[in-house]
Amino acid sequence: MGKTILITGASSGFGRLTAQTLRNSGHKVFAGFRSNEGRKKQVADELREKNIEILKLDVTDQGSVDSAIAQLLEKSNNELDAVVNNAGMASAGISEAFTPEQARQLFEVNVFGVQRVLRATLPVLRAKRRGLVINVGSILGRITLPFLGLYGASKYAVEAMSDSYRYELSQLGVEVVLVQPSAYPTNMYAAAQQPADEELRTTYGEVAEVPGKILKTFVTLFQGENGPNPQDVATAIDQIVSAPAGSRPDRVVVGLPFGSDAVNKVVAPIQRGVIDSLGLGDLAKLKIINQREVKASSGT
Ligand SMILES: NC(=O)c1ccc[n+]([C@@H]2O[C@H](COP(=O)([O-])OP(=O)(O)OC[C@H]3O[C@@H](n4cnc5c(N)ncnc54)[C@H](OP(=O)(O)O)[C@@H]3O)[C@@H](O)[C@H]2O)c1
Repeated sequence: MGKTILITGASSGFGRLTAQTLRNSGHKVFAGFRSNEGRKKQVADELREKNIEILKLDVTDQGSVDSAIAQLLEKSNNELDAVVNNAGMASAGISEAFTPEQARQLFEVNVFGVQRVLRATLPVLRAKRRGLVINVGSILGRITLPFLGLYGASKYAVEAMSDSYRYELSQLGVEVVLVQPSAYPTNMYAAAQQPADEELRTTYGEVAEVPGKILKTFVTLFQGENGPNPQDVATAIDQIVSAPAGSRPDRVVVGLPFGSDAVNKVVAPIQRGVIDSLGLGDLAKLKIINQREVKASSGT
């Protein structure tokens, strides 16, 4: 049966493709748009034509998140099965040349945005004692590239949040999966935050040229004969959604791993060992809760 799914940042890139892919798989999709005006209106109209519901949802704005979730619940008759935290932005350049305000803005979207959306939606999933959260992290949450370190820091944060939420929600029937995409040609690179402190940049001499070279490497990768296709991420998310509860992996790398899969493999048993040593092993396994009992106890 089709699920009711919210995806944030659906006006572009992975989010837009994921909204379409999930809809094609028969799900009821609510697509969060930071703005559906200007050039985004056309994207919103295209998705509406595919029977995807558009919600105005800026993850940095508590009022916007609350109002979007209220609308969703009204339109879905209080149904919600899965939340995909996809909205995000990049930053690229010499770390020192970003102002603290820029770093804060980055974390407002990539980290605190996830927290806002989860606080607004988890009460519904917890009450139903079932559900799925998919957070879109990055391979840069596992391995670090210079000049992408602030962005990486925000994705490292999403790693820790995903693990913590997974343990905390497992006994309430809610599963948490982290998707770690590799580099894909979306609008993220063109839209990436650039360092505001231009003067500082010039004091780095030749090192200041390296970010441009890294970008060139990515562009070459993107334009290659077997260049990465962002649809891979949408397909991976669709597969996670359709997998049976309790069978889903904690993490899924999509695309060229650049060693992130090896880090995942090494860290998993260490992490599990710590949890077991603290007597918390039960939290590492999703509890599948009988839905008839949940309905009976809620009187529905
Ligand atoms: N592309 C990659 O190589 C790559 C690799 C690893 C991970 N990721 C992650 O994948 C996710 C999707 O990125 P993408 O590559 O598809 O980039 P994208 O094409 O730039 O899409 C980013 C989406 O996030 C939205 N967004 C930005 N700020 C927002 C806010 N305050 N509230 C709500 N939505 C907001 C954007 O809305 P607007 O259209 O209004 O800007 C857009 O819909 C991000 O979390 C990103 O970090 C990307």
